[in-house]
Parts: sequence; C-alpha cells; structure tokens
Amino acid sequence: MSLFGRKTSPDIDNYFPVCASENMPEEEMTAVKVDGRKIILIRYEGRVYAIDSLCPHAAADLTKGSLRSWQLCCHEHNYCFDIRSGLIVWPDDEVYRLRRYEVKEADGQIFVRLTPYK
Ligand code: FES
Repeated sequence: MSLFGRKTSPDIDNYFPVCASENMPEEEMTAVKVDGRKIILIRYEGRVYAIDSLCPHAAADLTKGSLRSWQLCCHEHNYCFDIRSGLIVWPDDEVYRLRRYEVKEADGQIFVRLTPYK
C-alpha cells in the first residue's frame, strides 16, 4: 500500500488535495496523511471512499487489514465493515461504525474534507 503524505492546504471548501486520481485503482487501499491524520482511500465501483485508519473497535491500524470488494476487515479481531456505509458487517450484534470523510474528485485530483461524514 502506498502512503502519500505531502503538506497541503485546504481549498475554500476545506477540502485537502490528497493524491492524483490515476493513483487510485479499483479496490486497492491507499493511505494518505491529511493534516496529520492517516486516512485510507478506496475506490469501489468508480467512487472513492475516505476512511479513518483507526479501527472503531479498539483503534488498530486498518491499513493492515484486508479489503475484499466493499468489505474492509481489521487484522486485530477480524471485525468487518462496509466501506460504502461505514456499518459493521461482522459481528452483526456490534454497533461500531467506520469514521468516514467526504471526498470529491476534480481535475484529476482527489480531495478529502476532514469533517466526519454523517
Ligand atoms: S481493533 Fe479492529 S477489530 Fe478490534
């Protein structure tokens, strides 16, 4: 997994440029540092999702987890999450949810806003 971490400033809408679109292949995790925070980018069915790298269960580094299609599984206790909604998939009796961030893609660039996605 690549880690892009250059210093950047946000645009007027508070989106930070994080990497070139061409560096985001389908169904691969790319880690970026945004204003000191480590975030995972995943392109799935053309759309880019931005997810906090800390697992919501016990804060393990999700960049060490595994991605299967739309499902991201943590290596620490094997909890799995749906990257599209942030909801937990397994175990289904838990209520943890991924912290996600807003993403926009323009002019061959991917931008992330650090305000948590609702
Ligand atoms: S820390 Fe990720 S599943 Fe427990």
